[in-house]
Amino acid sequence: MRKVDDPREVRAWSAAARAAGQRVALVPTMGALHDGHLAHVARARERADLVIASVFVNPTQFSAGEDFTRYPRDVDADAAKLEGAGCDLLFAPDTSLIYPDGFQTYVVPGEAARDYEGAVRPDHFRGVCTVVAKLLNIVAPSVVTFGRKDAQQLAVLRRMIVDLDIDVQVVQIETVRDPDGLAKSSRNVYLSAEERTAALSLHRALLAARTVVAAGEEIESAISAMHAEVSPDILLDYADVVDPDTFQRCCERSGALLGIIAGRVGSTRLIDNEVLWTEGGSRAG
Ligand code: PAJ
Repeated sequence: MRKVDDPREVRAWSAAARAAGQRVALVPTMGALHDGHLAHVARARERADLVIASVFVNPTQFSAGEDFTRYPRDVDADAAKLEGAGCDLLFAPDTSLIYPDGFQTYVVPGEAARDYEGAVRPDHFRGVCTVVAKLLNIVAPSVVTFGRKDAQQLAVLRRMIVDLDIDVQVVQIETVRDPDGLAKSSRNVYLSAEERTAALSLHRALLAARTVVAAGEEIESAISAMHAEVSPDILLDYADVVDPDTFQRCCERSGALLGIIAGRVGSTRLIDNEVLWTEGGSRAG
C-alpha cells in the first residue's frame, strides 16, 4: 500500500488508474480506524479495482469547544489496518495541504443539514461538505462509501452530490456494532466502563421505538419509548423520528421512518439510528 500526503500526487495516481480503465473507490475517514471503517474498505474492494482511503481529521467540521485537538490520531496503526483490509493507497494530507493560506470557499448545505446534528453542531455539515467535495475533486473516484451510522451526514452528502452534479456513485455501508449493540465509533475509546454501560441504552432506545412502530402505534409513542429507555446518565440532545432522505421530522407513515438519537455520556458525544419502518418492509436507499 502506498502512503501519500500530497493531493497532486493522489490526483495523478487516480488519473493514471482511470486512464488505464480501472475503477477507483474512495473511503473518506478521520482515522482512528475500527471494524466499521474496514467494512467500507471491504465493500469498496468489491466495487472497484483500486481503493483509496483518506485519513484527515478535518478541522472545519469541529465546532468551537469540540474534541478536535484530542480526537484520537494514530496514522501508523491506521496504515497497518488499511493494508490488512486490502487498501491500495492511503491519502493522509496535512491540514496546510487541504486548507492552504488564503483558503476561503465553503460548500453550504441546505435544509437536510439544519436540524439535529446541524442544530447541535453549528457549521459541522458545512465543514463535512467542503472537505468531502475537495476529496472527491482530488480523487475523482467512480465510487465513494459513506456509513449509515452517520445518517444525517449521509443524507446531506447524497444531496450535495446530486445538487453539485458530482459524478460519483454512493455506496451506503451498514452500521457495524459491538456484540452488545454499541455502534463502533472512534470516540468509544473515551468511554469508562460505567459510561459504556449507559451508552448501550441509546441503541436499546431505538429498538424499543421499532417495537412500538411494529405494533402499529403512533410515532409519538415511539418517541416516548425512546426517552423512557435512555439511561439517566445520558444528557440527551434529541430522540426523534425522521425521513432518512430529508431529515425532516415524520408525523405519519410514508416512505421510511428512521429513529435517530444523540447525547452525551460524560464528555463523550454519541449518535445512533435505526430504520423503524419502511413502506413495503424493505430498507430504502
Ligand atoms: P469518520 O467518523 O472517521 O467516519 C468515516 C466513515 O465511516 C463515515 O462514512 C462514517 O459514517 C463511517 N462509519 C463510522 N462508524 C461506522 C460504523 N460503526 N459502521 C460503519 N460505518 C461507520 O464521518 C467522518 O469520518 C467524516 O465526517 C468524513 C466523512 C470523513 C469527512 O471528514
